[in-house]
Amino acid sequence: MTLVNRRVLLRSRPVGIAQSEDFAIEEAEVPSIDVGEILVLNDYLSVEPAMRGWIADVSTYHAPVPIGSVMRSIAVGHVVQSRDAGFREGDVVVGWFGWQHYAAMPASAVIRRVTHTDLPISLSLGVLGLTGLTAYLALTMVGEPKEAETVIVSTAAGSVGSAVGQIAKILGCRTVGIAGGAIKQKLCVDEFGYDAAIDYKEGDLLTKLAAACPQGADVYFDNTAGPISDSVHQNLALRARVVICGTASVPVWNPRPSGLRVERILLVKRVRMQGFIIFDHEAQFSETIDRLASWVREGRLRYREDVLHGIEAAPDAIAGLYRGENLGKRIIKL
Ligand SMILES: NC(=O)c1ccc[n+]([C@@H]2O[C@H](COP(=O)([O-])OP(=O)(O)OC[C@H]3O[C@@H](n4cnc5c(N)ncnc54)[C@H](OP(=O)(O)O)[C@@H]3O)[C@@H](O)[C@H]2O)c1
Repeated sequence: MTLVNRRVLLRSRPVGIAQSEDFAIEEAEVPSIDVGEILVLNDYLSVEPAMRGWIADVSTYHAPVPIGSVMRSIAVGHVVQSRDAGFREGDVVVGWFGWQHYAAMPASAVIRRVTHTDLPISLSLGVLGLTGLTAYLALTMVGEPKEAETVIVSTAAGSVGSAVGQIAKILGCRTVGIAGGAIKQKLCVDEFGYDAAIDYKEGDLLTKLAAACPQGADVYFDNTAGPISDSVHQNLALRARVVICGTASVPVWNPRPSGLRVERILLVKRVRMQGFIIFDHEAQFSETIDRLASWVREGRLRYREDVLHGIEAAPDAIAGLYRGENLGKRIIKL
């Protein structure tokens, strides 16, 4: 019997944030697989803020998704056919399977096999996936937090941010979260254990940060860049570490965004600022996921999922992240 696939294709290359009209949903036959390939039926598709970078033609670390091809995405699903010795029907795998129901892929598209089968498989796109890994590895490798230090996190209620805040607490730090809106501000404190949380949309961030961190911040986990970071930079402690993880507040990269110059602060305060890309650290994924999974099981690492239903939700899903409408890791359940 011929299987029919539903998939989301990139229709146009957006200048700023990708909107629904940049994508098209179409049906196509599921191709047969060759030796060395597997056929995966996706259960959940991931939606990342970074996806806008994967389709842009400037300032990115991946070759842009070609127009007319399936939107690149990480997904988790079940192997339904395998012509590769490493995989069997029924295996649960996470990989570069794209925004589609069926992915006929070389086995190399698999990032890893899901082993924490006592926990929901959707977590392998969030707290036990790219965002949890980013939170732990970027915080520990670049932020290098020490006990009793103060850690400031932007997009603090989001998938990466909420994990950063909790991991910093586990490591004995004081945490201050910056998030948009009263609901997220409350979530930061009540659910994710931040010592203080600030709603940046209310204004006067500079003064509020100074009040929340009287000694300045030792680590700034920066997911936004832009005006939020301009305020945090002025509240850094001596020898602070700034983790450049995301640029969520920058709507377009061309023309290049301008803002306050930071060099004088870095110089006077001897601050270290360093970019981080999770795909440089695949060798540490397995060990880190085991650690994160134990914390999840022990109830020390909480998570939220923002679940959209059906592939029809995909075209608008990235724009929604930039409207700040997600409460937790945004995924699409198929
Ligand atoms: N470097 C890496 O390897 C890596 C890997 C994964 C993720 N990241 C980055 O980590 C960050 C968070 O990703 P995530 O998956 O956890 O997403 P998320 O935080 O769950 O969702 C994105 C959030 O960004 C915030 N945002 C959107 N537009 C904004 C603006 N103009 N100003 C300030 N905040 C804005 C919104 O939160 P508010 O409502 O609070 O504004 C929104 O909910 C992103 O920048 C992402 O690119 C980096």
